[in-house]
Amino acid sequence: MCEKKDILSLDKFNAGDISDLLVQTDSFAEILKRDVKKVPALRGKTIINLFFEPSTRTKVSFEIAAKRLSADLINFSSSSSSLKKGETEIDTLKTINAMKIDLVIIRHSDSGYINYFAEKMPVPVINAGDGKHEHPTQALLDLYTIFKKFTNFNGLKVGMVGDIQNSRVARSDITLFKKMGMDVTVVAPSMLLPENFEYFGVKTASCIDDIISDVDILYMLRMQFERQDKKFYPSVAEYNRFLSLNSQRLGLMKKDSIVMHPGPVNRGIEISDEVMEMQDITDSRICINDQVTNGVAVRMAVLYYALS
Ligand code: CP
Repeated sequence: MCEKKDILSLDKFNAGDISDLLVQTDSFAEILKRDVKKVPALRGKTIINLFFEPSTRTKVSFEIAAKRLSADLINFSSSSSSLKKGETEIDTLKTINAMKIDLVIIRHSDSGYINYFAEKMPVPVINAGDGKHEHPTQALLDLYTIFKKFTNFNGLKVGMVGDIQNSRVARSDITLFKKMGMDVTVVAPSMLLPENFEYFGVKTASCIDDIISDVDILYMLRMQFERQDKKFYPSVAEYNRFLSLNSQRLGLMKKDSIVMHPGPVNRGIEISDEVMEMQDITDSRICINDQVTNGVAVRMAVLYYALS
């Protein structure tokens, strides 16, 4: 029997597999430029969006991706489900599976819990973000955004700034960026770094000014207040002093460099209001909306991979 095509992390994909996914993404991105943005690739397939934690980008993006491929997508709302009557999450999943669905997309606030769900499910499971653990489709859309700007990855310098400690995006991105030959430096004070940080094998700096004029990609991470059980940073003023992107710092970046952020942005913390307003108007280096746009084509490629 074939192994079911879960996407829980990108560990099992080598650089060649990732490149194949990017080529597939490119062909779907072309379809999204047409007047009729729909193909019959997954007609007859039923997909469930199961989000146990809030989301705008990932949830809507998967829904659009599924519909562009002609699949039927059902959004499951945990707040109006029988979970409220005491049904367990795993029984909820088994109940949904009994309705003969083809694929489940899950977001959950507990790190690693989706792997447990995937073991119990006979259909492919896609991780749409689990706690502080992994966010594989965010990493793929980030990689595709970089690919569209630079056309290759080898030797590109990435500065990843902020709350590494609580970030699933940082874990998935660092692993993927290194796999594709990029050079990653993490900018964070020790209280925003995880304990086993050496595992990632990247360089570290403590102030954004140490890397800003040297990097090709400045990746700003969101302060994950919802995952912080204690205060990890003394004050916003202190954060702004060492870790935030403002227009003055943007002026120090290379002309062909780019700024990324997974969203949602805490304006005035990771990125100033002024820099956010420059996006799409005066500074095409700020790629946050490009990331969101690219997310649809990437997720089409991921759904197609898992169901084909
Ligand atoms: N980047 C990201 O996962 O955003 P959402 O939480 O809005 O899905």
